[in-house]
Amino acid sequence: MEVQIVLCLCVLLHCQKLTSSFTGNILFSTHTAIMEFDIDTRNVTVLVEQSDTVYAMDYDYKNQFIYFPRFSTHDIVRFAYPSKNRTLQTVIQSSPHYPSGIAVDPTNDHIYWIDFYVGRLSRCNLDGSNVTVLSSLSLPFVIRLDLTNRWMYIVERDIGILKSRFDLTEKETIVDFVSSQVYCMDIDTNEHRLYWIIFGNGDIKSATYDGSDVKKNISTNSAGNKIAIGVLGSNIFYADNKQLLMVVKTPGSTPTVLYNDTSRIESIFVFNQSGM
Ligand SMILES: *[C@@H]1O[C@H](CO)[C@@H](O)[C@H](O)[C@H]1NC(C)=O
Ligand SMILES: *[C@@H]1O[C@H](CO)[C@@H](O)[C@H](O)[C@H]1NC(C)=O
Ligand SMILES: *[C@@H]1O[C@H](CO)[C@@H](O)[C@H](O)[C@H]1NC(C)=O
Ligand SMILES: *[C@@H]1O[C@H](CO)[C@@H](O)[C@H](O)[C@H]1NC(C)=O
Ligand SMILES: *[C@@H]1O[C@H](CO)[C@@H](O)[C@H](O)[C@H]1NC(C)=O
Ligand SMILES: *[C@@H]1O[C@H](CO)[C@@H](O)[C@H](O)[C@H]1NC(C)=O
Repeated sequence: MEVQIVLCLCVLLHCQKLTSSFTGNILFSTHTAIMEFDIDTRNVTVLVEQSDTVYAMDYDYKNQFIYFPRFSTHDIVRFAYPSKNRTLQTVIQSSPHYPSGIAVDPTNDHIYWIDFYVGRLSRCNLDGSNVTVLSSLSLPFVIRLDLTNRWMYIVERDIGILKSRFDLTEKETIVDFVSSQVYCMDIDTNEHRLYWIIFGNGDIKSATYDGSDVKKNISTNSAGNKIAIGVLGSNIFYADNKQLLMVVKTPGSTPTVLYNDTSRIESIFVFNQSGM
């Protein structure tokens, strides 16, 4: 009897949902695959096998494709999701450049992407047509879009966070990284904050949409290899080298390891099923 109760408890605890009001998955990339972490079941599935560094992913909620840049293959590809047929389709050939960041604007059928070393921000239609170079920037790495308020946020890796309209008007650097490097950032649409990780010391920081109230939320005290973050409701998902972790947005909470991979996790995308 006691054994049964303990077993039941274990099953209950194990299957407890990580978030109370959310249906969706955490997608993440490694050097071998694009993976899916099911928040409800904690099941991990390989979506697409691949062999490049993938620093970003974004989703077209209207036509249901995941887009991602392949850094050293110099291209941007997409696959249908959710779907049984996840064949990769090439959208952009960016050779000889190294695409690092991507963002989809389904309202205007646009994708925006960053070619890292040349510091270039470009835009094209969802099918890759009509490529337009928009701007030259200083070491841009990440791009995220606030689709509700129509603002673009760009991480310039060694500099800070640049905020602008989608047509690059009203351009302003709102956060200064103060001689540290940042490889990841996400938008918290619930609390209207931006979150990023300092590469050198692993600190997770946040600020309001206008760059004020910069807070060090979490001090992880471990250097390097934290280059992926995704914010979802009251949780933050991030990677520390090969581990996928989650931390609740309550001061003093300790991170939980959700999954151990065999390769470094290089980007995280939070997929909101209700957004479809
Ligand atoms: C987890 O995934 C495995 C195979 O990928 C599948 O057989 C199993 O049913 C899944 N479990 C849940 C709870 O979805
Ligand atoms: C899978 O998708 C690819 C790319 O869209 C397409 O070319 C192929 O015909 C599809 N395969 C099947 C079995 O539907
Ligand atoms: C192509 O891009 C240019 C410049 O952004 C824009 O003016 C034009 O309407 C676009 N054409 C198509 C067919 O998307
Ligand atoms: C980070 O700090 C801000 C400001 O104090 C707070 O609003 C936010 O909830 C915190 N996030 C986490 C993850 O603790
Ligand atoms: C991940 O690996 C650590 C040891 O490095 C282990 O303590 C932990 O239980 C593992 N977690 C999961 C979810 O596999
Ligand atoms: C998911 O998407 C729905 C519909 O757009 C939205 O109402 C909800 O706030 C989103 N959930 C989170 C956690 O962002």
